[in-house]
Amino acid sequence: MSTDPQADTSPSMQGQRVLVAGATGYLGRNLVSALLDAGCRVRVLVRRPEQADTFPGEVDAFVGQVTDPATLTGVTDEIDMVFSALGITRQRDGVKYLDVDYRGNLALLHLAEQTGVARFVYVSLLHGRDLRNSVRLATAKEKFVDALTASSVPSVVVRPTGYFSDMGEFLTMAGRGVVSLIGDGQLRINPISGRDAAAACVDAARSAATEVQVGGPDVYTYEAIARAAFAAHRGAPRIRHLPRGLAVAAVWVLAHCTPEHVYGPLQFLIAVMTHEMTAPPTGSDHLTGYFAQQSAGAGESVTAHDAPTVG
Ligand SMILES: NC(=O)c1ccc[n+]([C@@H]2O[C@H](COP(=O)([O-])OP(=O)(O)OC[C@H]3O[C@@H](n4cnc5c(N)ncnc54)[C@H](OP(=O)(O)O)[C@@H]3O)[C@@H](O)[C@H]2O)c1
Repeated sequence: MSTDPQADTSPSMQGQRVLVAGATGYLGRNLVSALLDAGCRVRVLVRRPEQADTFPGEVDAFVGQVTDPATLTGVTDEIDMVFSALGITRQRDGVKYLDVDYRGNLALLHLAEQTGVARFVYVSLLHGRDLRNSVRLATAKEKFVDALTASSVPSVVVRPTGYFSDMGEFLTMAGRGVVSLIGDGQLRINPISGRDAAAACVDAARSAATEVQVGGPDVYTYEAIARAAFAAHRGAPRIRHLPRGLAVAAVWVLAHCTPEHVYGPLQFLIAVMTHEMTAPPTGSDHLTGYFAQQSAGAGESVTAHDAPTVG
């Protein structure tokens, strides 16, 4: 028996049979890699047969539609743990947050209950509870959290800040010459890479926690993220500050005259940019490295370790 007080005594993931929903997404693909590395037997839920070919050969792919529960029968058979990174971000399928983030996950939960799944790891949002009455995405996600918490399946809700993939919007704006911020840009966030968020999800699965907040290792103001995006493009910073009240009013109007897939992402973006979005730091990937690699066209790999300063 180890006498090292730092020794990892959490249960091993080796040999666990896991299902990943949302496996084709930014976090989902990192989760599949992390679970394979941890020695798990991985099944992914995908909605199109051709998506199955995008995973390593040892991954078992189940094709089904979360919006049509009849097509999911059997997906949790012989599964010990479910990881759900399933949710609408940029998809334009004509379905609503309630259809996917709530009912889609609920369909998986019902199957997990029937087949005796031992742990359900669900990825929601930092401050999701506070935002549930004002942000449609948070409404759907927290409705599922309610169902999960009431379920007989042991669960943990992971609440990340914002992923590097979403911070890529700053890079896109900087590439176009000007970054728009809401307010004075002094609110803070510690964004997290998909790899570090995936590792946090696996740690959460192994722990006894029922809720975990996670952010990346570096805290930035939004202004600092904008400047880092310009630095990655080697461009002079041009930052426009939009009055917070104007942005909130614009989204309120859009919410009354456009469909959810138009106003929903903006509503979420403005909520995020008008709240402190810092969570306990974890991981080792740095946004500046991600920006450098993205602007050099090197894809999603995140390896650089140059820590930025705040402000
Ligand atoms: N992005 C962030 O900064 C952030 C921050 C905190 C929490 N989160 C949450 O973390 C989770 C993962 O985020 P992400 O950025 O990795 O998302 P993502 O890259 O957009 O991936 C979303 C996943 O959900 C699936 N999906 C979406 N709509 C679907 C539908 N109608 N039917 C079936 N599958 C559908 C996608 O499948 P396809 O590939 O087939 O479209 C994909 O596998 C989400 O629940 C998100 O709300 C995100």
